[in-house]
Amino acid sequence: MTTLAILTAAGSGTRLGFDLPKALVPLRGLPLVLHAARRLTASGVVDALVVTAPNGLVSVMSDVLEHDPHVSVPVVVVAGGTTRQSSVAAGLTRARADIDTVVVHDAARPLAPAAMIRRVVETVKAGHQAVIPGLPVMDTVKILAPRGPVEDGRGALPAGVERVASTPARTLLRAVQTPQAFDRALLVRAHSAGAARARTEATAATDDASLVEALGEDVFVVDGDELAMKVTTARDFYYIEKLLTEDGR
Ligand code: CTP
Ligand code: MG
Repeated sequence: MTTLAILTAAGSGTRLGFDLPKALVPLRGLPLVLHAARRLTASGVVDALVVTAPNGLVSVMSDVLEHDPHVSVPVVVVAGGTTRQSSVAAGLTRARADIDTVVVHDAARPLAPAAMIRRVVETVKAGHQAVIPGLPVMDTVKILAPRGPVEDGRGALPAGVERVASTPARTLLRAVQTPQAFDRALLVRAHSAGAARARTEATAATDDASLVEALGEDVFVVDGDELAMKVTTARDFYYIEKLLTEDGR
């Protein structure tokens, strides 16, 4: 069995607000993308790596990854698309014929531990075709009523006020992370159906599992890890720097 990791690194990092694209921002001296690539390699379950780079930065990204002694698997860098979904789709087109399992991971989650990467990939290899890591949710979460014409006579809502539709049971909620692992044929099918639906950023999927769910196929959740948190804002960045120090690596 041969596993490809697609490492998404083509985003701009607008919410982080630094001068560099997020994947190239150094965390204790190493770009986020390199932390993530090293951990994928260290897992021992990844045989090849395809990295999506921002347009115009394919060779910069290649330089970062190709000369790193800890990234010991073959690396291909491709230009990403305008959405995460289209970036993953671009990466998938570069999967060699012998690949049967694909793990998709965000460079924005630089500290995902090797044990967690093994957990998702091995669960796929054991026969579950779509496996994602998730953590219990601490906050109570509300689902909002869609805004729009009010037909029940309760009147329009002022700006900044939303109506609650319902409260899902917190025990049934999971906050989902990457890496997410899939049987290759299933992920290819999910992305081709997804590409036909998503034409704009607003309609693109924010994770790969939701494309599999849209096919009506099962997706399975295993334990996530706090270390796999995503760097979205500057606050996340400083927090993850602290986690890195505590993690000792
Ligand atoms: N990503 C990608 N291609 C895109 C958009 C995002 O490969 N067109 C990747 C990012 O590089 C990141 C992951 O998808 O590793 C998750 O996306 P996000 O956290 O939203 O990162 P950015 O899009 O870079 O950040 P922002 O939305 O704040 O601009
Ligand atoms: Mg984004």
